[in-house]
Amino acid sequence: KSSSFKEVWSTQHIKQSFPIRHASSNKGTHGKGIVIGGSIQTPGAPMLTSKAALTSGAGLLTLALPSDIHAIAAGHMLEVMYKPCPSKDGFFAGEIPLEEAKYDAIAVGPGLGRTKETKKVVEQVLYQPVSVVVDADALFHLPHLETEVKEREHATILTPHPGEMARLVDTTIAEVEANRFSISRQYAVENGVYLVLKGPNTIVTTPDGKQYVNTTGNAGLAKGGTGDTLTGIILAFIMQHDSLQEAISNAVYVHGKAADVLLDQGHTMMDMLASDVISALPAVLGQLG
Ligand code: APR
Ligand code: MG
Repeated sequence: KSSSFKEVWSTQHIKQSFPIRHASSNKGTHGKGIVIGGSIQTPGAPMLTSKAALTSGAGLLTLALPSDIHAIAAGHMLEVMYKPCPSKDGFFAGEIPLEEAKYDAIAVGPGLGRTKETKKVVEQVLYQPVSVVVDADALFHLPHLETEVKEREHATILTPHPGEMARLVDTTIAEVEANRFSISRQYAVENGVYLVLKGPNTIVTTPDGKQYVNTTGNAGLAKGGTGDTLTGIILAFIMQHDSLQEAISNAVYVHGKAADVLLDQGHTMMDMLASDVISALPAVLGQLG
């Protein structure tokens, strides 16, 4: 039986674990990440992820997206490198050319879509020998890819909201909400993954069942796109921390804190956008790094 260690991830923990950025560092030091996602219906999601990752200190960031939407994205974001991929009707259709470049970590899922071909994209990503963050539509495909997840030798980080969690374990959202700790611990331990169960007081669970509870954030985050930004922060942080648990817990803290800072700056829970959360990251990171 796994331990039932539970702890609030406090400012004390964060100050002790936050990475120091050395003057001698170069872009390679901070990691080479890739975001894989996007479709004709949701081109903005992986762009939010990419921008959040760069703003959170990722050294080099590539966005792999269906070639149909490459021009839309490229006109919006100048700092990202693009990998236009085989596309049909605005969705991924075929292998992603990943082999020629070595990435330190991958995030897959934001805006990906739920077609048969997009499931193959997730499968391909799960075979890559690096840490992978699995979010959004990639989580939709996961019930059909459990063996692939269990057989991975590198870290797998899942970031479900309660609806996505319910689907992963084939239960209702009400069940998940009533048993947030036990359901996420059981899934993380059984599948050997880091699990981020989102919502107020997001819980981060390690593959050995330890759980860390976040205290930042507010209902202004209950709006499309904010989850995509969290995925970008996690991607950036896992490339810049030594401990995955610390990286993930710190990312969740920073994401929530950015929303809290927006309220201090005069935003309301109604007007807050995912892009605003990214804009508030410097104020949060400035107090930590
Ligand atoms: N208090 C604190 N944090 C909150 C709250 C709240 N009341 N509500 C939401 N959050 C945080 C969550 O913890 C999480 O970090 O906001 C983020 C929301 O993430 P997601 O639910 O993944 O949202 P996102 O993917 O951006 O957009 C919703 O998900 O179910 C799909 O199709 C649906 O397009 C929709 C999308
Ligand atoms: Mg989401």
